[in-house]
Amino acid sequence: MTELATRWLGLELRSPLVVGASPLTDDLDALRACVKAGAGAVVMHSLFEEQLVEEQMAAHRFIDSRINMDAEARSFFPESEVFEMGSGSYLQRLELLRRSLDVPIVASLNGISTGGWTAHALELEAAGAHAIELNLYDLATDPSETATSLEQRQQAVVRSVVEQVSIPVSVKLSPFYSALPAFVAGVEAAGARGLVLFNRFYQLEMDLDELELSREVVLSSSAELPLRLHAAAMLYGQTSLEMAVSGGVHSGDDAAKAILSGATAVQVVSAILANGPGALEQIHDGLNRRLSDMGYRDLTEARGALSMAKAPNSRTWERLNYARLLHGWK
Ligand SMILES: Cc1cc2nc3c(=O)[nH]c(=O)nc-3n(C[C@H](O)[C@H](O)[C@H](O)COP(=O)(O)O)c2cc1C
Repeated sequence: MTELATRWLGLELRSPLVVGASPLTDDLDALRACVKAGAGAVVMHSLFEEQLVEEQMAAHRFIDSRINMDAEARSFFPESEVFEMGSGSYLQRLELLRRSLDVPIVASLNGISTGGWTAHALELEAAGAHAIELNLYDLATDPSETATSLEQRQQAVVRSVVEQVSIPVSVKLSPFYSALPAFVAGVEAAGARGLVLFNRFYQLEMDLDELELSREVVLSSSAELPLRLHAAAMLYGQTSLEMAVSGGVHSGDDAAKAILSGATAVQVVSAILANGPGALEQIHDGLNRRLSDMGYRDLTEARGALSMAKAPNSRTWERLNYARLLHGWK
């Protein structure tokens, strides 16, 4: 058997399998079952910048309402009912998960600007979070904003969160950077400890009869994994950030591929949402079986064995090979 116990973000994990950020945060029984099935850590769903700013706005509104009782003036403030869970209930949930599960709990923040909201990272640390995952979900839709300015802003957000806390911060990225290694170097310089590859965008759906748009959460399949494997394999050895793969892990072999590409941790969401915690057990057992069959005694031996730096045939990663592949297609 391969020893699956590992260290990620300075935390001792019994296995590299991590329950990724998702509504599973709210289902303690399912999380208990995931831990029993072999999960090494749990990431909570995200607390959004907009949610925290709204909370601060509400506090200001409350104070203003005491100072200035002019109802018309107060009515200019927007009301938002988008988020059900404020930071208070998030912290309570975090404390509950800390008490109930004997694996590290990672809290998640999602934001795109530096500002007062990043101070909430300190509350997460005080409530017992072992680490923070910072999701940089941001889309460039304005032609006057350059890649450089967007990336600098994102790195500033990372620095701003890192500065608040002494626990490790791992940064969840979107797959779409024109020069990923350079951006990752900036994230590392900003003080992050880990990377999560990658965020998954929600699918836009078009209703052609009604001429309407809608957004849907569609669960992933293993077809989404290669994008992550490619990035992990390319970055391995080029960054000291510890990488977690997130997206498309549905089997033990998928998890093995993530480790062999260079990941330290492997996050799973869709497989559990679709098939329950039993899916995690299958991934856990399948990973162990596969790595044992390959003769690896532990994850350190396996990690990065198929990365670009160590691959027996690293030309597979190269552009020339890609061209040959296309021209050779029959
Ligand atoms: C219903 C649902 C809710 C999610 N909520 C969050 C979230 O709050 N924060 C976050 O960073 N990612 C969130 N994700 C993304 C997952 O953490 C994960 O990155 C993505 O689903 C890819 O992994 P998978 O293929 O194992 O599902 C969510 C995914 C789903 C399906």
